[in-house]
Order: sequence, then structure tokens, then C-alpha cells
Amino acid sequence: MGGNTFGSSLTITTFGESHGPALGVIIDGLESNFTINIEDLSYQMSRRRPGGNRLGTKRDEQDEVEILSGVFEGKTTGTPVAILIRNTNQRSDDYSPISTFYRPGHADYTWHEKFGIRDWRGGGRSSGRETAARLAAGAIAMQILKSKGVSITAYTTQIGHIKATKNDIGVIKQNLVSCPDMDAANKMEALIDEIREKKDSVGGIIECLITGVPVGLGEPVFQKTEALLGHAILSIGATKGIEFGEGFNCVNFKGSQHNDMMDSTGFLSNHAGGINGGITNGDPIVFRVPIKPTASISLEQRTRDILGNEREIVVEGRHDPCICIRIVPVIEAMTALTILSLWYDQNGR
Ligand SMILES: Cc1cc2nc3c(=O)[nH]c(=O)nc-3n(C[C@H](O)[C@H](O)[C@H](O)COP(=O)(O)O)c2cc1C
Repeated sequence: MGGNTFGSSLTITTFGESHGPALGVIIDGLESNFTINIEDLSYQMSRRRPGGNRLGTKRDEQDEVEILSGVFEGKTTGTPVAILIRNTNQRSDDYSPISTFYRPGHADYTWHEKFGIRDWRGGGRSSGRETAARLAAGAIAMQILKSKGVSITAYTTQIGHIKATKNDIGVIKQNLVSCPDMDAANKMEALIDEIREKKDSVGGIIECLITGVPVGLGEPVFQKTEALLGHAILSIGATKGIEFGEGFNCVNFKGSQHNDMMDSTGFLSNHAGGINGGITNGDPIVFRVPIKPTASISLEQRTRDILGNEREIVVEGRHDPCICIRIVPVIEAMTALTILSLWYDQNGR
């Protein structure tokens, strides 16, 4: 099993490398007769696009999508939707000086040991660029979910030591870091500029809020909603964990404080984060994801080459000093694909 396919009722298979001619996705299992909003699809792609944010990588890709199949007269036909995204701004020469070195924090060493060959141009398939394909698929899933009343919003709650203290979802599109607290956002942006100057990188935390999910999605044992969302989110590079509701903080509660009690109108609190026993309970689903500091930094680091010689490495090229900025729409996309797949499991397509 090559591990390039995700999902159950709804699957995506992605292909392509960071510096190859193109990458893309095949989406299988979508419902028929759904009108894809191409303008919205392009907008979603622009949110992740390299070069689209002053604080991100300087690689400039337009990320235009070509729909090759599964759509007729603007509507899904129920057959596989294949989408192609061409790479147009590769600069593979940036990587040739370090083609035989293992970059710390990257998949270089593990790929080479596992496969005996690796595409060193920009991380090949381990690159964040692969997520452009996921985003195209996720954007369609988001549109379908929206038509069913489900809304998915991810935002940054922490970068480095700076934490958001307000949760004003209305402002997340007004700053470059998708933060729901404008004061914190300004400080986060300044921190990223400072870190870039220092040739270093910084991580953060993304929170995701899903509303409008009915009671009953997910299964009680191996197909728990948390387990499937965990699989989806942890399959994105640079994610280092996931917690639902109170998450790790639940240990600071007593059962009497943590239990979500009910009255005739519904739940009186949402410490669980919208899921009980793996099954959605109708309340908003809330989870958080720590994002590691970007592996590629232009400071000198110790490593070894493929022959085992000790080396010093400086990773040149165009990188995100903080991955949080561009990962927000990818987290929404993988969430949408998971929830839509669970919806089809429960209701058919
Ligand atoms: C949207 C996105 C953009 C990314 N940009 C970069 C980058 O510019 N530089 C980098 O070193 N890693 C970047 N990454 C993360 C790497 O792909 C990832 O850390 C690396 O492949 C190692 O995998 P791991 O973090 O899962 O262990 C990005 C990831 C995503 C999802």
C-alpha cells in the first residue's frame, strides 16, 4: 500500500512532487449534481498559495486548477473528479548543493533509508506543496458541506509565545496570520518578521471549529470521529498532535466540572468538543493542532550526507518562517473531507 489515498466513502488520492511538472488529486465518491463554485475554489487555493502572503515563502505559484473529469456542465457527475495543478515556479537548483545532505527536521533521512531514492528537489512529495492538491479536493467538500449547513473555520491561536486572548472570528480575514485577536495578530506578524531576519523559524497552534454537524456521525469503535480527524490532520506535514475540546487540559477538571450536563434544550457546556464515544453529539466540534517550527532554516546546522560524512548545512531556498499561516486552509480542507466522508457513511451520497 502506497499510502497516497485517504478516506472511506469519499476518497482522495494525491500525486505529484514539489518540483515536478504538476501535482493533483483524484476525488472518488462525491455526490452527483452538485454545482461546483469555481470562483470559490480559486479563492480557497489562493489562501494557501505560495507567494500569496507577505509573511510566507517567496515561491510564487498561481495554483490554477484544471478539472479533468467528473464534472459536466459545471455539475459533479458522481464519477471521479481529477484535478491538476501545474508547478510553474520551481527553482530546483536551490537544492542541488544539498542534494546528498539530510536536512534536519525533514523527511530526507527516513525517505532515503526507506526507499533508497529520494526526490531532493524541495522535499519532493513530503513538501507542503503536496497539500495544494488536498486543498482543491477539500474546497469542493467544503462547498458541499456548506449546502448541508456545516461550516468549518480554522484560525491561529498562538505563534511562538504570543497567544490570542480574544476569540473574534470576524477579524481572522483582516490579518495575515488568521488570528481572531487583532492585537495578538499584530504581535505575531512582527514576531515572524523578526524570526525571518534571524534566519530562524517559529511554530504555533491552530484551532478548528466545525458547526452544523448533526448528531450521529462517526462509529463507536475504530471509525471514531476523533480517530478519523486525527488521521486526517496528522497526515499534514508539520502537525505534531491534536486535542479535542478541553484536550490535555481535561486533567485539570473534576468529573463534576468536565461532564457536559444536559437539560431539555441540549448540552449546557462543551468540554467534550462535540463528540461523545466517537459519535458527533450535535454541538460544535473543536480541536487544536500544534504546528512545529519550520524545519528549513538558513542558520548553520549539523548533519550527515548519504555516505555518512559529518557535514554543516545551511538550507537556502524559499521557505515559510511560520507554517501556521499557510496550513490554516489545509486543516479546513482535510477536516471537510473527513466530515463529508462520515456524512456519506451515515446518509449515503
Ligand atoms: C502548507 C505547508 C507549507 C510548508 N512549508 C514548509 C517550508 O516552507 N519549509 C519547511 O521546512 N517545511 C514546510 N512544511 C512542512 C514540511 O512539509 C514538513 O515539516 C516536513 O516534510 C517533515 O514532515 P513532518 O513535519 O511531518 O515530520 C510545510 C507544510 C505545509 C502543510
